[in-house]
Amino acid sequence: MGLEQLEAMVHETVTAGEPFEYGADRAEMDYLSSLAARPGTRLICEVGFNAGFSSWAFLSGSPSVIVYSFDLAGYAYSSAAKEHIDELFPERHNLIRGDSHVTITEFAKQNPDLRFDVVFVDGDHSPEGARADLADLRPMTTPETVVVMDDIMPWLWYGEGPTTAWQEAVDAGLIAHRSFFQDGDPVEKIEPPASRAWAEGFYPR
Ligand SMILES: C[S@@+](CC[C@H](N)C(=O)[O-])C[C@H]1O[C@@H](n2cnc3c(N)ncnc32)[C@H](O)[C@@H]1O
Repeated sequence: MGLEQLEAMVHETVTAGEPFEYGADRAEMDYLSSLAARPGTRLICEVGFNAGFSSWAFLSGSPSVIVYSFDLAGYAYSSAAKEHIDELFPERHNLIRGDSHVTITEFAKQNPDLRFDVVFVDGDHSPEGARADLADLRPMTTPETVVVMDDIMPWLWYGEGPTTAWQEAVDAGLIAHRSFFQDGDPVEKIEPPASRAWAEGFYPR
């Protein structure tokens, strides 16, 4: 439902020569939808809305989930995607615009009792940025929250930061690692080539 329209908008953006950041592909979207469909999942947080693909995957995965996205939302296509997502999934999506290194902590202070069932980290891909997002989200989680770090592909420039941040968080005991995924399949170790790869874990207490 409606994914083709998001893809058409992206196609127009790219052919018009505007900068575009890619997001989840079909295999990753299927995985994100499956997280949303897990029994008891209601509140989902993502850092990185971009063109709305991961939001679409979560929202189409279950009719009862609500998604909170944190994004700079500096691209014109992000605003167009937000409008489209709101038409498709009325009152089920919230976009918190601005730098996640400020907005997540502010949002947590304003919502001290809110706990997410899933958090998906796919925003600032620098090591320090991904590290900060992981740490700043922790107060809004429980040990049952599923945390996913996208782009565990250290051989790509945008994969180094998330990979480093995830490994450091695991080593420090902030995150308990559960599984890696490569192009939709659970794997022990991620190895090139891969179109998409990510890690799943939880915040132990
Ligand atoms: C790879 S895209 C996200 C893709 C999306 N999750 C999907 O799968 O469709 C990364 C996004 O992170 C956002 N971003 C980068 N740095 C950020 C920051 N410091 N605060 C908030 N958003 C940021 C960018 O604006 C961009 O939209």
